[in-house]
Amino acid sequence: MDNDEAFQAPIDRILWAHIAFMFLAFGIIFPTGMVLGLSRSRWHVPVQIIGSIFTIIGYFLGHAHGGREFPGDNIHSLFAPFLIYTLISQVGIGAYLKLHFTSGPNKWFRPLTTKIHKIIGIFIPILGYVQMVFGVITIDGWCRGENIGQCLAHFIMGSSFIAYGIFLILMLRLASGWLQRKGKSQDYYDSWIIMAWGFVNTFTEHRGNVWSHRDLQHTSLGILWWAGGTVGIYLSRNGKRNIMPALIILFTGYAMSSHAQSSEISTKIHAMFGYVLMSASVVRLAEIGFLSEKKLMLIFSGLLFMGANIEQISLLTEYGIDPFSYALVLASTSFLIFFFTNILIDLYWRSGQNDGEPIGNNDIIAHMPLPLTDPHISSSNSEDDHDVLFQRAKSNDDDYDYKA
Ligand code: HEM
Ligand code: HEM
Repeated sequence: MDNDEAFQAPIDRILWAHIAFMFLAFGIIFPTGMVLGLSRSRWHVPVQIIGSIFTIIGYFLGHAHGGREFPGDNIHSLFAPFLIYTLISQVGIGAYLKLHFTSGPNKWFRPLTTKIHKIIGIFIPILGYVQMVFGVITIDGWCRGENIGQCLAHFIMGSSFIAYGIFLILMLRLASGWLQRKGKSQDYYDSWIIMAWGFVNTFTEHRGNVWSHRDLQHTSLGILWWAGGTVGIYLSRNGKRNIMPALIILFTGYAMSSHAQSSEISTKIHAMFGYVLMSASVVRLAEIGFLSEKKLMLIFSGLLFMGANIEQISLLTEYGIDPFSYALVLASTSFLIFFFTNILIDLYWRSGQNDGEPIGNNDIIAHMPLPLTDPHISSSNSEDDHDVLFQRAKSNDDDYDYKA
């Protein structure tokens, strides 16, 4: 390339200033202003106006930079107009809302626009995050040509873990009342997300004709997620908590911690990522407070054992399939066996002459009652908390009694 030099040139001050203004606007000011909008604070409008001014300055700086050059079709400059138009509409709607017209057609138009303003308002920090990631990959020329696949995989997967973490925090801090009203446990929603994500990963992680290690590993993780997610949804019926999401995170962490990479640094970073995931899982198991799915573990170990016969192993070597992808597929199979067995038991109790499971036999699927209030953050009286903890301890005991 003849203009290689321009692509390697240092980043000039104008571009650094662009980054600083945009980061402050989309990373700090707009999210803060969004929360002030949701809480109906009188600071909402001033804060968003400051964010908009920062954006205008950042916009001109982004166009005015010298120094390093970038390919014309870079994703950051392609996505920018979309984000800017979204913001302009949002500010326009905001201005209309601020004028407080209430007569005539405004009677229905105002509530409608408020709703739209709210939805766009929640999307802006998310789109801003995406645009910032695009900025980072543009600045170093990452994710172009043949690197696009692994690049997408890492940024999307990584972002989805971040989103999941944030989502869990929001659920815990804001939505425990909502969960209680819906009669669903957190694990129910988690399992849906994991399942949906698993389907996406199962069908999108393989490119070209040859199945590379990376394709295999990512696809087998996808299978693990949808299979395990399905079981998690099933076990969450009637607001029960269950450890499926935690188990899936544990297996994912294990696979990541042993994910062979092209360089030592990369292997170490993946290992760290895996350990962090595994510790997240352990914390979650502790939060749920019991270890019940020993039956599932038995099925899984049975499959691993069956799958470890010498001919199979030599087949794996022949096809170049790594042990972790293989183990994940076996884990997925054990989820499905576990699921199908439970479905059949349910069918038995709900068909023919049976009209439901006999009361008192519910510990076939061990569970604990939903902790309706989080003892760490709730201000309810201590007797209630004591009850929740007591029930939790009790369901633990039930689980260790082998009558099922
Ligand atoms: C500078 C331009 C803006 C103005 C003048 C403005 C004005 C307003 C007004 C007057 C409300 C109250 C609506 C009502 O309660 O009837 C509101 C709510 C809200 N605004 Fe803005 N806004 C602006 C920009 C933004 C931006 C950039 C965001 C997001 C990043 C945002 C997010 C929100 C949210 C989430 C609500 C709460 C809506 C609800 O809970 O129903 N606004 N805004
Ligand atoms: C969400 C906030 C951001 C917005 C809305 C934004 C918007 C823009 C716009 C409108 C341009 C001019 C594009 C063009 O020349 O056609 C630009 C350029 C650029 N921005 Fe951003 N930006 C943001 C954040 C960032 C961040 C965080 C980085 C880097 C870490 C970054 C790196 C760049 C680079 C490298 C260019 C030059 C691209 C080129 O010359 O084609 N931006 N940005």
